[in-house]
Amino acid sequence: MNILVTGGAGFIGSHTLIELYKAGHTAVVADNFSNSNPESLRRVAGIIGIPEVPFSHVDIRDREGLEKIFAAHRFDACIHFAGLKAVGESVEKPWEYYENNIGGTLTLLDVMRRHGCKNIIFSSSATVYGDPAEIPITERCPKGRCTNPYGWTKSMIEQVLTDLQKADAEWNVILLRYFNPVGAHPSGRIGENPGGIPNNLMPYITQVAVGKRKELGVFGNDYPTPDGTGVRDYIHVCDLAAGHVAALQAIGRRCGVGVYNMGTGHGYSVLDMVKAFVRVNGVDVPYSIKPRRAGDIATCYCNPTKAKAELGWEARRSIDDMVRDSWNWQRHNPDGYPE
Ligand code: NAD
Ligand code: UFG
Repeated sequence: MNILVTGGAGFIGSHTLIELYKAGHTAVVADNFSNSNPESLRRVAGIIGIPEVPFSHVDIRDREGLEKIFAAHRFDACIHFAGLKAVGESVEKPWEYYENNIGGTLTLLDVMRRHGCKNIIFSSSATVYGDPAEIPITERCPKGRCTNPYGWTKSMIEQVLTDLQKADAEWNVILLRYFNPVGAHPSGRIGENPGGIPNNLMPYITQVAVGKRKELGVFGNDYPTPDGTGVRDYIHVCDLAAGHVAALQAIGRRCGVGVYNMGTGHGYSVLDMVKAFVRVNGVDVPYSIKPRRAGDIATCYCNPTKAKAELGWEARRSIDDMVRDSWNWQRHNPDGYPE
């Protein structure tokens, strides 16, 4: 299939491009590089062994820009990663998040349908479950109250896509609810490249390990979890990338709306992750206990059996693979991609 990949220069998009080409698909990237760098696409091309990944420097809110891409290519489906994703920033700048994520998606969907491309895989998030009603979380678990505008954009876009498909059965929609993507391609050539102070645990750990930050703050050790620190379902980004290829096959079978958790089904605490990182990589990660972070929940991990049964996909890589590959990327690229 020929796939439009919005946000393809970003962390998850860049890894997914590799899995797409490995599976015999081709792709065109649409990215405004607001949180990424074209260097990631050059490196992806090098890993795949092609001269370049076709891309357009375009904002998905730019209807004319999108029209030009659709005029130049025929797409079988879109994998839609493009969006702003910093939880804290979304509380400070809600309008910007709703406008970019929801406004951009509405424009994208309109241009897609005008060109007869009605197959989409959307990057949703476990955040739509809010404080989950059950653990492990299945897809039957009701959606909850999100604690921030970023989460609401995911929840609302899920609703838009579901309603669109209900009204027009030509649409095929797959909502992939990611848990906590970490790790990097084993080559160490591409990885997560956060600007400024990382919000997420793994990039914070790797930046402490490489000497860019003094110590990790562990946000709370009084949660009702085995060691008191927050428990999450960390998933290797290469496994997650492969999940998108599996989802494309379901689209090919005309699936209607499909909702899938993308996680391993295992929960690890903050201190589990720190200890695994130190053990596998032999580097020190100083940390101290800090107060809880507003909006955090104690435990979040999924039951991933629906994706296995219906998509034939499951995560294969271990926590050791995750911490090894995260470190391999960071130590070879201490400042991320060159500007
Ligand atoms: P990322 O920031 O690395 O990638 C997102 C890409 O979208 C970037 O390249 C950015 O430049 C681009 N982009 C943003 N707004 C755009 C616009 N208006 N037009 C064109 N391009 C635009 O993030 P990621 O970690 O790769 O996440 C990809 C998707 O998965 C996002 O939608 C994110 O919300 C979702 N998600 C991520 C996580 C996570 O922990 N990384 C968890 C759940 C869901
Ligand atoms: N944590 C720390 N110190 C840090 C960063 C995080 O102790 O410096 C802890 C958090 O308190 C939490 C765990 O590490 O217990 C994971 O935190 P992350 O910020 O890495 O991830 P979250 O689970 O909070 O959020 C992530 C994504 C969201 C997404 C959510 C659910 O950032 O976009 O998973 O998928 F919505």
